[in-house]
Amino acid sequence: MKILLLGGSSFLGRAFASAALDRGHEVTTFNRGRSHSDLAGVEAVRGERDSADDLARLVEGRHWDAVVDTSAQQPAQAVISARLLREHADHYTFVSSVHAFSDWPALAVNEDSPLHPCPADTPPDQPPGNALKAGCERAVLEHFGADRTLILNSGLLIGPYENGGRLPWWLERMARGGPVLAPGDRERAMQVIDVRDFAAFGIEVVTARHTGRYITTAPTGNVTFGEFLATCREVVGEPSDGRPAAELVWVEDGPLLAEGPDSVLPWLELPLWAPDVPEMAGVWLADTARVQAAGLRCRPFTETARDTWAWLQQRGPAEDTDADGLKGRKGARHKNGIVPAKEQRLLAALA
Ligand SMILES: NC(=O)c1ccc[n+]([C@@H]2O[C@H](COP(=O)([O-])OP(=O)(O)OC[C@H]3O[C@@H](n4cnc5c(N)ncnc54)[C@H](OP(=O)(O)O)[C@@H]3O)[C@@H](O)[C@H]2O)c1
Repeated sequence: MKILLLGGSSFLGRAFASAALDRGHEVTTFNRGRSHSDLAGVEAVRGERDSADDLARLVEGRHWDAVVDTSAQQPAQAVISARLLREHADHYTFVSSVHAFSDWPALAVNEDSPLHPCPADTPPDQPPGNALKAGCERAVLEHFGADRTLILNSGLLIGPYENGGRLPWWLERMARGGPVLAPGDRERAMQVIDVRDFAAFGIEVVTARHTGRYITTAPTGNVTFGEFLATCREVVGEPSDGRPAAELVWVEDGPLLAEGPDSVLPWLELPLWAPDVPEMAGVWLADTARVQAAGLRCRPFTETARDTWAWLQQRGPAEDTDADGLKGRKGARHKNGIVPAKEQRLLAALA
């Protein structure tokens, strides 16, 4: 099949490109050439997806069996691509998020859960927000047609090339060694999906031209938070330079959430820490019955952690690492990862 990836070079899009090439498909990627280089074997078209001219140049004289859109974040972006590609592609898969559901992360969601009320014709350049993916979904359905559209609501993605700084942050924290602040309930059941498992499933349902919606993530409990952190520590191993190995020091939610200068931001300062609070009660409870019945298979977390650590070592420090070793998108309001001095203060006070 001929497959167009809107994006296709960074993380999930890259995994889609790899899965499609492995299965013998012809792959075109469309991106600005900023984030990463494209995989060998794809036809890479450079352009800005907000630009109608660049998109017109992309589609001129071309037709694809399927489009996979991993990069639209704004409804206005989805409107122009879905409108234009209507005549140049047979099928459109939009990668959305569990964020699109208004009940998430407070409640368990399934494919019939209500979406945020963001409309398809939301003006461009909105500040980032969870509701926007719902508007993107509506835009694709409206302009490409529900009979030819598949929506994949992604859960938390991890794996090699991760650009969210979550699993990489924990692996690199373990590599720094010493006492590590391990927050909350070690028995908390998570649901995290390896980007390669997402893409393998995605290519199957894209090429079979499925329509409708799948919440695409692992079943709840594919790893607990305690296993997640212990595996990160194990995969990283002992420091070779004589520094003390990482030692997990578990601290309950309450003191970490207590107001004050050393209050810790869930999810961001200690990535993926979801405390036991009503606002986050459903964070790892998305219903995966439909996606499992459709064939999603998830590898063990150990394999994801090992492969991500191997990739990190080969890659070296990310360009956007600051003096504290914190990573994040440049200019983001919060960076992932706690400042080391704050972590040590909390450990001294609470452990
Ligand atoms: N990470 C998670 O846990 C998670 C959870 C739920 C949902 N999701 C969703 O999953 C999707 C996966 O994202 P990804 O980063 O892994 O996908 P990706 O396709 O691997 O990367 C994004 C691509 O879009 C391109 N791009 C970005 N802005 C562009 C623009 N204005 N014009 C043209 N190309 C542009 C980037 O290349 P250039 O920068 O070089 O242009 C890159 O190739 C996202 O939609 C995200 O919201 C992720």
